[in-house]
Amino acid sequence: MFQSQSSKGMLALAAMGLITGTTASLETCESGTGFSCASSSTEPTCCFNYPGGALLQTQFWDTDPSTGPKDSWTIHGLWPDNCDGTYEASCDSKRAYSNITAILQDQNLGDLVDYMDEYWVDINGDNEDFWSHEWSKHGTCINTIEPSCYSDYKAQEEVGDYFQKTVELFKSLDTHKALAAAGITPSTSKTYSLSEIQEALTDLHGASVYLGCSSGELNQVWYFYNVKGNAIDGTYKAVDTLTDSGCPKTGIKYVPK
Ligand SMILES: *[C@@H]1O[C@H](CO)[C@@H](O)[C@H](O)[C@H]1NC(C)=O
Repeated sequence: MFQSQSSKGMLALAAMGLITGTTASLETCESGTGFSCASSSTEPTCCFNYPGGALLQTQFWDTDPSTGPKDSWTIHGLWPDNCDGTYEASCDSKRAYSNITAILQDQNLGDLVDYMDEYWVDINGDNEDFWSHEWSKHGTCINTIEPSCYSDYKAQEEVGDYFQKTVELFKSLDTHKALAAAGITPSTSKTYSLSEIQEALTDLHGASVYLGCSSGELNQVWYFYNVKGNAIDGTYKAVDTLTDSGCPKTGIKYVPK
């Protein structure tokens, strides 16, 4: 719907305050900035993700208990990683918000909350607590969305940006569909090899992924990116996993929800 609006119309709507949760006030990054991790620059700026230069869109396949739609994986989070499999966590206790729903609704992101209630779900049913955990542990460590990076900062603006961006990336990574297209479907009896699962998801992403298993059952996938510019408006480039798979080589179960 936004795409069909003329840019003049968009500006007018933005000026009237009818569009919120947009990222207009993040600093515009010069096109010359290199990709995170690949670049030798280690100067933290609002246009260069550092030290968490790899950003991971992580997903769950929860079956015990089952969460989310039967034909979809669910969102775990968006995590910065120090380009080597290690990461910083809980970087700003002052921004460890526990009122994520209220923050998003206050930014007119009610539709996003509805989507998250379906696809970003806590295994124990406490979505609010899960969202707060993901934001506080991982979101606060993304240096390019610190409040100081906004030119006209409104309170908790970066929180809306974080949840919107995570959902946008998740929507572009339909794990269930990509596996199904390769003949890998949930089953109580069939098993799959690590290489066939990896191949199907590498096709989707354009780079290898981390696969997680619990008791031989596939239950996690992490998609890795390097980013040029800030974490919201920047260019995302798929990169190979930095973490070895936690699944056996053969006999992997992918059980139905
Ligand atoms: C969320 O919590 C923070 C910290 O307590 C507070 O400053 C902010 O006003 C709250 N936001 C909303 C929309 O309730």
